[in-house]
Amino acid sequence: MQNVLVTGGAGFIGSNFVRYLLKVEPEVRIVNLDALTYAGSSENLKDLPDPGRHVFIHGNICDRNLVADLLRRYQIDTVVHFAAESHVDRSILGPGQFVQTNVVGTFTLLEVVRQFWLIERALPLASVRFHHVSTDEVFGSLEPHEPAWTERTPYAPNSPYAASKAASDHLVRAYGHTYGLPYLITNCSNNYGPYQFPEKLIPLTILNALEGRPLPVYGDGGQVRDWLYVEDHCEAIWMVLRQGTLGETYNMGGDNQPTNLTVVQMLCDILDQRLPDSAYMPHRSLIRFVEDRPGHDRRYAMDTTKIRRELGWRPRQSLESGLLKTVAWYLNHLEWVTAIRNQPGYQAWLEINYASREAQ
Ligand code: NAD
Ligand code: TYD
Repeated sequence: MQNVLVTGGAGFIGSNFVRYLLKVEPEVRIVNLDALTYAGSSENLKDLPDPGRHVFIHGNICDRNLVADLLRRYQIDTVVHFAAESHVDRSILGPGQFVQTNVVGTFTLLEVVRQFWLIERALPLASVRFHHVSTDEVFGSLEPHEPAWTERTPYAPNSPYAASKAASDHLVRAYGHTYGLPYLITNCSNNYGPYQFPEKLIPLTILNALEGRPLPVYGDGGQVRDWLYVEDHCEAIWMVLRQGTLGETYNMGGDNQPTNLTVVQMLCDILDQRLPDSAYMPHRSLIRFVEDRPGHDRRYAMDTTKIRRELGWRPRQSLESGLLKTVAWYLNHLEWVTAIRNQPGYQAWLEINYASREAQ
């Protein structure tokens, strides 16, 4: 793995992955292809370690000619595919873009690597890898008594986001089965940490709390998610890419299942400790229960036995330590916060998503 194409590397997880890889792998060169949608920003790529081994390309994964040219020009032997529309609430309000990027975009990448790696045999087949980054949301929703999802659990996606990710996973698998594409798929639980766009629960809560704004909790707040610190996810992806069995999928998760309300309360308590002179103490007083998300999945839980047993991976951060690090990062990067929140469309999104939600 020498020349790695990272798609979506200006987004939350992608930019953390670029940073991680430059830090741990001194030989790797990275080509970072990102369309810089609302969720991507060059702000996420400032101060990279060893930036001479990173090339940023502003472009779309649906642009077949561009992707083909990049593969050829940079002799790409590894693709790590993050680029996606990733926010469930946006998928409910506008599913079309999710089908375009997540399904058509993934299909376009697959077609280009098939041509370059499998038809032209431009590089030794043993040296190439397509790593598809997916989510636990493809599995649907668990009842309280049901066991955590394993790699063998059938897909049952509920939101347009989850359905579009499931479709892309199926395409990757089919390219492996039909054309012999050397691929790996990882299904990960909810991520959090530095550089997460503040439309997602954890950064939204931190930033609203700092300004004394309401902390919106959908429904009764009893929905359960599994949270993984983003750097633990990056390490797991790289481990699977190097040591995983080709053609297999790996579940990843943080081994915690708090309710959303618990997560919001934990963040409030951390802020109380960090900012004892805040005008908004106790921050829990800002919590507001608002109208639920349509079709809201109740519970996610990942069985991570396979990656632990086969590869020896385990998360380094607990939910407590990861949240402490995350709050500290946001408090220390307020200039990043300002730049991101001033991007066109962010305030409009808050208005669209929250103004019409009746308080519960
Ligand atoms: P994100 O929304 O923060 O970033 C997505 C990036 O993709 C952005 O930089 C955006 O500009 C780029 N992008 C979007 N459409 C593109 C296109 N057509 N061409 C090129 N670039 C495009 O997402 P994220 O949270 O970093 O998630 C990254 C990947 O990880 C996604 O595939 C997502 O499904 C998956 N995932 C996310 C989580 C999570 O909790 N965030 C959990 C599991 C899996
Ligand atoms: P989110 O961060 O959007 O991730 P996902 O939908 O991919 O799991 O949401 C995490 C959980 O938090 C989810 O159950 C929805 C809930 N949530 C709220 O209660 N309030 C909010 O303002 C947001 C954005 C999410």
